[in-house]
Amino acid sequence: MIPEFLISFNTGTLPCEEMDFLVIGGGIAGLSAALELKSFNTAVIYKDGISETCTYNAQGGIACALGRGDTPRSHWEDTMATGCGIADPEAVEILVNEGVDRMRHLVESGLVFDGTKGEFHFTREGGHSCSRILHIEGDSVGRNLMSFLYSKATSEKNLKIFHSHFLIDLLSAENRITGALIYDGKNKRIFVARAKAFILAAGGAGNLFQETTNPSGITGDGMSVAYRRGAELADLEFYQFHPTTFYLAGAPRFLISESVRGEGGILKNARGERFMPDYHVSGELAPRDVVTRAIIDHMKLTGTNCVYLDLSGIKDNLPKRFPQIYSFCMNYGIDIRKSMVPVRPAAHYFMGGIKTDMWGKTSLENLFACGEIACTGVHGANRLASNSLLEGLVFGSRAGRKAAEKSGMKIGRNDIKYNFPQRADILIDREDLKRSIRSLMWRNVGIEREEAVLTTAIRKFDDWKKYAFLKEFSDITGFEALNMLIISSLITEAASPRKESRGTHFRRDYPAENNSEWKKHIIVSRNGFRIQD
Ligand code: SIN
Repeated sequence: MIPEFLISFNTGTLPCEEMDFLVIGGGIAGLSAALELKSFNTAVIYKDGISETCTYNAQGGIACALGRGDTPRSHWEDTMATGCGIADPEAVEILVNEGVDRMRHLVESGLVFDGTKGEFHFTREGGHSCSRILHIEGDSVGRNLMSFLYSKATSEKNLKIFHSHFLIDLLSAENRITGALIYDGKNKRIFVARAKAFILAAGGAGNLFQETTNPSGITGDGMSVAYRRGAELADLEFYQFHPTTFYLAGAPRFLISESVRGEGGILKNARGERFMPDYHVSGELAPRDVVTRAIIDHMKLTGTNCVYLDLSGIKDNLPKRFPQIYSFCMNYGIDIRKSMVPVRPAAHYFMGGIKTDMWGKTSLENLFACGEIACTGVHGANRLASNSLLEGLVFGSRAGRKAAEKSGMKIGRNDIKYNFPQRADILIDREDLKRSIRSLMWRNVGIEREEAVLTTAIRKFDDWKKYAFLKEFSDITGFEALNMLIISSLITEAASPRKESRGTHFRRDYPAENNSEWKKHIIVSRNGFRIQD
C-alpha cells in the first residue's frame, strides 16, 4: 500500500550530477561525517538552512567525561542506566571513550567552551552522577558549535554545501544505493545525484507531534525514504519528551534547557507547590520521562495546561548564564529573574531510527546513517541528557571514515523509470493532513499510551493512508505529509506490541517493566516487524 517512491520519474531524462559522496543533512553528525570526506568530491545538502537544524538549537551542552574525578566508565554507567536495560554496551563504550578524544580534538582545533583559567565549567543534568555538561556562551552551545563546524566545512575546497535541497527518494540498482532524487528548491528542479556512498544525517522527527522543541522542517523524511527503499528501522516506540518547553498561547515551544534545573531551577504547580521530590529522590534532576509524567500529573491535578519553573534560587547572573532563554522569555514579558516561566513537555528526541552497526552502516549497501536519524543502540529506551551532540560527533565521524573506504568504487548507474500508481486526482489539504497526524500522535501515541488508544490511532492512520497514498504530490509539504504518515504509523505499530513500560515508552495499561519478555528490540522493514535480543 505504501508507494515505493513519492513521484513518477525517469532517470534517463532527469538531469544528473555525480560526486563521490552525498551527505544528507548538516547538523553535527552530517558535518562530522563530511569533514572526514574532505579529500573527496563531497556534497552536503540541507533541507533548509543551518539555523533549522536541531544542533543549532541545542542549549544544554555536550556530555563528556573531561572533568576532574569524572571517568568514561562513570559516563558509561549513567548512559546504560538511563537506557533502561536495552542500550547497547559496545555502542556506549565507543560513545564515552571516543567522545573524549573527539572533544579534545575540537578544543585543540579552537572551539572554546565556557570556563575559567583553563578549566571547563561543567553543568549538571538529569541522570548524570556528576556535573559533566560542557557548554558555550551559557545556553548557546548549538549555534557556536554549528558556526565552528560550518566554517571548517565551507573552507574545504572539495566540500560543496547546498541549501534548500530536499531528499525525495533514494535509488538503488542490484541492492545497492546508487542515487538520490533531490528537489532543488532554489532552482525549482529535480535532479538525480549519483555517488559512491550516501550518508543520511537528516535528524529526527519531532514534528510528528503537536508539541515539539524541533525546528519545523524536522519531519522524519530521511527515515521514511530509507524505509521505503527497504532499510531496517529499530526502537521506534521510544520517543523522548522534554519536560520543560515554554508554554504561552501563540509562542513557539522554545526549549527551557534542563541545565536551568541543573543550576537550581525548581518546578512548581499552578498552586505554587514544589512537587518533584514526591516523585524521585533526584527531584528536578530525575530522568526526563519521570519529570515529564510528574508534570502531566500536576497539570491534571490543578486543571491547567502548564506548570512553572522558578529560577529565583539560581545564584548566577541569569542573563549571562542563559542569554537565549532570558531574551526569549523577555520577548513575552517574562523576566526570568523575577517571574516564573510557564512550561510543559514537548516531543524532543527520537531514540529510534535507521538501524546501523557501530560504523553507521545500514542494512542497505552504500547507505550510512548517523546522528538522531540513526539507531546505533547508544540510547536504548531513553537518552541521557546532552548525549546526542556527542553521539553526532563520534558516530558522524565514524560513518564518514567508513564511507571513505568506498572511494575506490565506481559510481553505480540507476536506470529507473517509475510510474506512480495513481488513481483519479483527489484534493488533499496537506497542512490539514499534517495537523491531523500531529494531534493524533500527541493524543494517542504521546507521553502516556494504552492499547485502546493505540489501536484507534492505527485504524485512523490506515484510513488516511487509503486515500493519501494514492496522491502524487509535487511539493515539499505534500512529500512531508506522506513521510509523516509513514513514520507515525510505524511508531504506533511498534508501541502496540511492547506491552510494558520502559524508559520513554509508558503504558498506562502495563505500567511495569517486563524484563523476562521485553529486554528486546522491535525492528521493522518493508518485510514487516521482527523482535531481536
Ligand atoms: C536541554 O538543554 O535541556 C536539552 C539537552 C538535551 O536534550 O540533551
